[in-house]
Amino acid sequence: MITQGLEGVIVAQTALSRVDGARGVLIYRGYDIRDLARAVSFEEVAHLFWYGALPTRAQLDALKKQLAQQRTLPDAALNVLRALPPTTAPIDALRTLVSALDAGRPLTPPDLPQAIALTAQTPVLLAAFDRARRGLAPLTPRPDLDHAANYLYLLSGEIPTTAQVRALDTYLVLLADHGLNASTFAARVVASTGSDLYSCAAAALGALKGPLHGGAPSRVLDMIEAIGAEENAETWMRGALARKERLMGFGHRMYKTTDPRAEILRGLARDVCAPAFFALAQRVEETGLRLLHEQRPAERLYTNVEFYSAAVLHAAGLPKDLFTATFAVSRMSGWTAHVLEQVNHNRIIRPDAEYVGPAAQSVIPLDQRA
Ligand code: ACO
Repeated sequence: MITQGLEGVIVAQTALSRVDGARGVLIYRGYDIRDLARAVSFEEVAHLFWYGALPTRAQLDALKKQLAQQRTLPDAALNVLRALPPTTAPIDALRTLVSALDAGRPLTPPDLPQAIALTAQTPVLLAAFDRARRGLAPLTPRPDLDHAANYLYLLSGEIPTTAQVRALDTYLVLLADHGLNASTFAARVVASTGSDLYSCAAAALGALKGPLHGGAPSRVLDMIEAIGAEENAETWMRGALARKERLMGFGHRMYKTTDPRAEILRGLARDVCAPAFFALAQRVEETGLRLLHEQRPAERLYTNVEFYSAAVLHAAGLPKDLFTATFAVSRMSGWTAHVLEQVNHNRIIRPDAEYVGPAAQSVIPLDQRA
């Protein structure tokens, strides 16, 4: 008996996050994501994952200082950066550069200082790549800026507005972890073999790239831009569904009601997006939900996190081809925490497959094969 896509199969224990898909609830270490999104910064969430508790003021200051100190890139990564063609997809650039961070080091087990360094370096790598492809030198990270603000600064060279920082920081809080999603599972599988943190992160980035996981938000923006005006939404979306295309930003393996992150991001998008764009996005969402419920009533398809992620990241000033890689700026905290959890209670993850190939065959000598 196999379970396609491992749906509902429990293969690990985690104290990091819990997804209650029936009720539309997401918990990080006992805290409801709605409360966290209102009250804490990305760095506080990272502390919660890595140290098991929300930080005191002194602990938060210490973690911010540590993150800021780790923003320098090693020469190996800078050399690889210069070799990447400007046409490289940002998520591919990030996966390659994360591997380069580890170049020349002996195999060492994942540890917390590495988790902090890798999380600190992820936005720096990405911004350096974005500038390199535009023919610009990387900017020097600003130790006085937090994770979200420093990322935006490194991309544009300008101090971001409070609204931009709030939008991106809330996004980073919301996307930091999500149970045993595909990329986190990939990271834990690699960790279970005794490999290093950088290999775990590279595997996770490979999984995140796919449009059924983290590759959706730029496609959401493509869809909204292609629809262009509220009155076009129904015809465009009916056409896509008739061609058996998936509507990006809808549906989720876990949520059989609205994804709580989508609701928070919708509220944020209302605040930070241009009113005309928000109205169009909302019409596209309403139309998509109506058509999906009409055509697939049994599937219970709702808005997922990627739909309004696109709007929020767009309003924060990020180019759309950076959206998937920006997901990793947040999720690196969750991946690294899962990897540390895995290595603390490790047994190699090695499931089985049902063999459905041919029965016993005899080997025919090469020259006699038809
Ligand atoms: N648009 C149209 N049809 C859909 C959609 C959608 N967005 N989502 C699911 N369906 C349909 C499928 O075609 C399938 O029908 P079929 O059995 O006739 O082929 C049925 O609903 C069930 O879909 P599955 O892929 O089996 O559902 P699953 O739970 O495995 O997949 C997934 C979830 C991959 C997210 C899916 O809903 C999807 O492809 N959504 C669009 C892409 C997207 O938004 N990805 C981002 C996900 S959020 C994240 O990972 C951070």
